[in-house]
Amino acid sequence: MSEKATTQNAALKYDLHDKPPVPQWIVLAIQHVFAMFGATILVPILVNAQAGEEVLTIPVTLVCAGIGTLIYIVCTKAGSPVFLGSSFAFIAPVAAAYTRGGKGGAFTGIMVVGIIYIIVALIVKLVGKRWIDRVLPPVVIGPMIMIIGLGLASSAVGQIGIASGTDIDWKGVIVALATFVITALVMVLAKGFLKIIPFLIGIIGGYIVAVLLGLVDFTPVLEAGFFSIPHFQFPGVTYTPNLGVALTIAPIAIVTMAEHIGDHTALGAIIGKDLLHKPGLDRTLLGDGLATFVAGLLGGPANTTYGENTSVVGMTRVASVWVTGTAGIFAIILGFLGKFTALVQTIPNPVLGGVSLLLYGFIAVNGLKVLIQNQTNFNKNKNIIVASTMLVLGLGGAALTFGTGNVSLTFSGMSLAAIVGVVLNLFLPEEREPIIEEIGYEEEEDAQGGADDDGDSAEGGDEEVEIPFTAGDARDLPNVFEMNHPIITHKLRVLRDKKTGTKEFREVVEEVCVYMCYRALEDAELNEVEIETPITKMVTGELDENRYAFVPILRAGMGMLGGLTQVIPNAKIGHIGMYRDEKNGNKPVNYFFKVPSDIEHRTVILLDPMLATGGSAVDAIDMLKEKGVKSIKFLCVIAAPEGLKVVTEAHPDVPIYCGAIDDHLNEKAYIVPGLGDAGDRIYGTK
Ligand code: PRP
Ligand code: URA
Repeated sequence: MSEKATTQNAALKYDLHDKPPVPQWIVLAIQHVFAMFGATILVPILVNAQAGEEVLTIPVTLVCAGIGTLIYIVCTKAGSPVFLGSSFAFIAPVAAAYTRGGKGGAFTGIMVVGIIYIIVALIVKLVGKRWIDRVLPPVVIGPMIMIIGLGLASSAVGQIGIASGTDIDWKGVIVALATFVITALVMVLAKGFLKIIPFLIGIIGGYIVAVLLGLVDFTPVLEAGFFSIPHFQFPGVTYTPNLGVALTIAPIAIVTMAEHIGDHTALGAIIGKDLLHKPGLDRTLLGDGLATFVAGLLGGPANTTYGENTSVVGMTRVASVWVTGTAGIFAIILGFLGKFTALVQTIPNPVLGGVSLLLYGFIAVNGLKVLIQNQTNFNKNKNIIVASTMLVLGLGGAALTFGTGNVSLTFSGMSLAAIVGVVLNLFLPEEREPIIEEIGYEEEEDAQGGADDDGDSAEGGDEEVEIPFTAGDARDLPNVFEMNHPIITHKLRVLRDKKTGTKEFREVVEEVCVYMCYRALEDAELNEVEIETPITKMVTGELDENRYAFVPILRAGMGMLGGLTQVIPNAKIGHIGMYRDEKNGNKPVNYFFKVPSDIEHRTVILLDPMLATGGSAVDAIDMLKEKGVKSIKFLCVIAAPEGLKVVTEAHPDVPIYCGAIDDHLNEKAYIVPGLGDAGDRIYGTK
C-alpha cells in the first residue's frame, strides 16, 4: 500500500460508533473537554470585557457547549464526531447588541442566528448545497474572518493595559508578557496534545505569575459553593426580547456557516468520511443551529464547530461519538461546579490580554490563510473590490441605520461588511481573467483530433490562462495517487501521441487500467480459503468479486472497462451517461443512469479516463452517493490539478488514482499536455 494510503487508512483507533473501554473512554472525554476549554471560556470573559458589564457567564457557557454538543449528536444521528464550543465570531457583535439593546438584544440575536442556520439547513435539504459556494466564496469568507480578529485588536491592547493614554501598571504588563510568551512557546515547540491547547497552558502559566505578583483575589472562590446553579436567562422572564437589535447580529451567521463547512470538510478528510454527505450538511447545520438557538434561549453564547476538535480527533485517531458525547456531559457538569467556575472567573485582565494578543491576530491570520490556500486571485479587480470594501467597512466603524426610534435597524461593522461582501461578489460583473503568460503548445493544437494528423482539428486553443493550482499541489492532496511508474509513463506516451491510431489507443488504455486497478485495490480484503497445490495443501486469500461494481462514465469511461474486467471478471457494471456542454461552461449534462440494484453494498470503481474540471466526476459521485454507495474509488488516466482540487474538496472520502497528473487546463478546459478528447480517440469520431 502506498505511503499516503497507509496514513489515511491506518486511520481510526475508534470509529464513530465504537465504544472505547471504560477507563480510556473517560480519559479521552476529559482530554476532549480540555482541548476546547480554553477557547470556550474566553468567549464570555471577552464579551463582558467588551460590553463593560456581565452579559454572559462561564457556567452557562459551559452548560450550553455541553447541551449543544448533545443536540448536535442527536440531529446528526451520531454521524459526526464534533464538539461544539462558543464562537469567537460573535464576541464583538454580541457585546455591541448588548450595548444597544441589553440582554434582549444580545440573546434574541443569538437565537435568530440559530434560526437562520435551521432555515439554511432546510434549504440545503431541499435544493442541495452548491449554491453556498456561490454565495460564500473564499474572497468573502477570508476578509470576514480577518475583520473578526482585527476588530477585537484594541480590546486586547486594553486588557494588557498598554492602550495609548493609560497609566501603565507594570505588574499587569509582566503578567501579560508571561502569558504571551508561554502561549507562543507552546505553539512553536510543543508536541502532541499540548500543541492543541496552547491558550489553556498560556492562561494557566500567566495565572500562576499573576498569583505570585499578588494580582489575584481569591475571595470569590472562598465564598462560592461547591455546586451552584448557573444563572440562566429566559426570554420574557429575565429580559424582554428585542428583535430589532437582534437582526443586526444575524449576518454574522454567514461567516460561521462557512466555518462550519470548512471544519466538517477538514474533519471528514481526517476520518476518511464525507460528513457533508453523510450525515449531510442539512443535518450538521440543523445540529449547530438548534444548539445555538437553545444557547440563546438559556442565556449562553452562539455555538460553533471547533478547529481544536478536528485537531484532537486527528491526533488521537478517536472519532467515537461516545467520546464527544461524554465530553459534552462533562462540560455540563463543570458548569455546575461553583468553586471551579469561580476560580476561572478570578483570571485577571492582563492574563486575558496576553492570550488575546495572539488569539485575535491568530483569527485574522486564519482569514489570510483562507485567501492564500484557495489561491484567491488578486490580479482580478473584482476580488480586490470585494475584499477591500469589506475590510474598510468592517474595521472603519461604519454603521447604517434603517428607520427611526424603536423601529430602526442598524447594521454596523462586521454585519455590514458581510452583507456588502456577499452582494458585491454576486452582482459585480466578472472581468476577463488576465492572461499572465502566453505559451504556444504547438503539439496541442490538433490534439483533439487523435489519430487524425492533418493538423487542422484543434479544439483546444493555445492561449494559456493563469495556473491556479499546480500539479505539485495536487500531488500533495492526501487522497490523490499518481501511478509514478516508468512503464505507465511509457504507455501514456503512446496515448498522448497524436499519431497513435484508434486500435492501439483502445488497447493501451485497457492495459494501463489493469495496472491502475491493481493499485486501487491494494487495500482489498481477502477471504481465507484452503486449496491444494500439486505439491501440498495451503491456506491463501481469495477476493470476493461480489463486493465490487465498475461504473464507467459514458462514453470515454467504457474504454477503460476491458482492463478492469480482466482483473475482476465478475464485478457488476453500471453506467452513467454524461457529456460536457461546451455552450454552458463545460458543465456536465447527465443523460443516462443505470446501476446494479445492490450497488450500495459494493465498492464502486468509477471510471473516466479524463478528469478535467472535475464537474463530471463530482456529479457522478453525487449520484452514486444518492444511491447509498459508501465506498467509491475513482480511476482516471490523466487528471488536471484544477479538477483534482474540485473533486477532493467536494468528496474528500473518495480516493483518486490517476495515470498522470498533467500541468493545467487550457481555456477550453482541455488538459495540457493531455491526450486530446479521450472519447473521440477511443471511438474514432473525429
Ligand atoms: C470528457 C471525459 C470526461 C469529461 C471530463 O467527456 O471523458 O467525462 O470530459 O471533463 P470534466 O472533468 O471537465 O467534467 P466528454 O464530455 O467529452 O464526453 P464523451 O466521453 O462522450 O466524449
Ligand atoms: N475531456 C477530454 O476527453 N479531454 C480533456 O482534455 C478534457 C476533457
